[in-house]
Amino acid sequence: MRLWFNLAPERGDPDAASEMSAGYDLVQLKNGTWSVRSVAEGETFHPVVGPVAEAEALYVRQLNLAERARQAGKGPLVLWDVGLGAAANVLTALRALVPTDRAVTVLSFDHTLEPLRFAFERREQLGYFGGFESVLETLLRDGRVRCAKTPLPLEWQVLTADFPTALATPEAEHWPPPHGILFDAFSPARNPAMWTLPLFTRLRQLTRPDRPCSLATYSRATLLRVTLLRAGWFVGVGHATGEKDETTVAANVPELIAEPLGRNWLERARRSTSAEPLTKAEYRQRPLSPESWEALNRHPQFQAV
Ligand SMILES: C[S@@+](CC[C@H](N)C(=O)[O-])C[C@H]1O[C@@H](n2cnc3c(N)ncnc32)[C@H](O)[C@@H]1O
Repeated sequence: MRLWFNLAPERGDPDAASEMSAGYDLVQLKNGTWSVRSVAEGETFHPVVGPVAEAEALYVRQLNLAERARQAGKGPLVLWDVGLGAAANVLTALRALVPTDRAVTVLSFDHTLEPLRFAFERREQLGYFGGFESVLETLLRDGRVRCAKTPLPLEWQVLTADFPTALATPEAEHWPPPHGILFDAFSPARNPAMWTLPLFTRLRQLTRPDRPCSLATYSRATLLRVTLLRAGWFVGVGHATGEKDETTVAANVPELIAEPLGRNWLERARRSTSAEPLTKAEYRQRPLSPESWEALNRHPQFQAV
């Protein structure tokens, strides 16, 4: 039996992890909860309602994780956790999956484990590690962990590498295809490499046609939504999280989108001054190109409306 899938990228920068800044802070939010902040990026990981409330609204409920885990289906529920960071999203998702008894496979991606180490050392304050302490100890030590039963049947692996680079390698085609993607990079202006059209196109290609997959992310930017549509995703309005009145959900099948973007949104996108996808790791705000406008109009999502 093959125990572990190969997450190692063929190429990539072996020193990437050590080059990352180890500068993280804990900040207390107005509601009393704590969140990790990257000093280098000047961004708080879960800035308004806190890590657990945001992860529940944005990923657990929006991606319907528990219900989808209970639905018939062979094999584990596969989650891709893009931007592992301090692991608040993925641990909140795993906690929600415990009562379902479904086996879960998680692939987490980050170019540094520093925020996770930092958060784990402050787990009492952060409060969301409860019951997963030994899982995290093994994960931090070995980069992977397997649990037979407690807290849930789980196989969890971390790829510590530049995500766009790893995703582009042929090895990515052998990773277990996802049912759900928790997409949590820093903002496009700060972290443009994580929000490009090539990246979301590759992600979409790595989902499997017979495995419905949905992706949620905190941004509602027109630029992001156009990028997802042009990458071949169906795209809808996502739940409010406390921080944002709207977020974004995408899927490889239209059935997983409760509130698809419609013609009104398309018309607004046409007038937006920041709608054209990023084609490389450089943040630029531009209105839609004629090519993007045509591609959007050809998208099956807008054919029926
Ligand atoms: C907002 S934080 C994620 C917070 C995390 N999801 C949590 O629940 O605590 C964004 C993460 O994306 C990671 N990241 C940014 N650019 C990356 C890249 N090019 N490759 C891999 N990870 C990246 C950062 O290191 C950071 O940990």
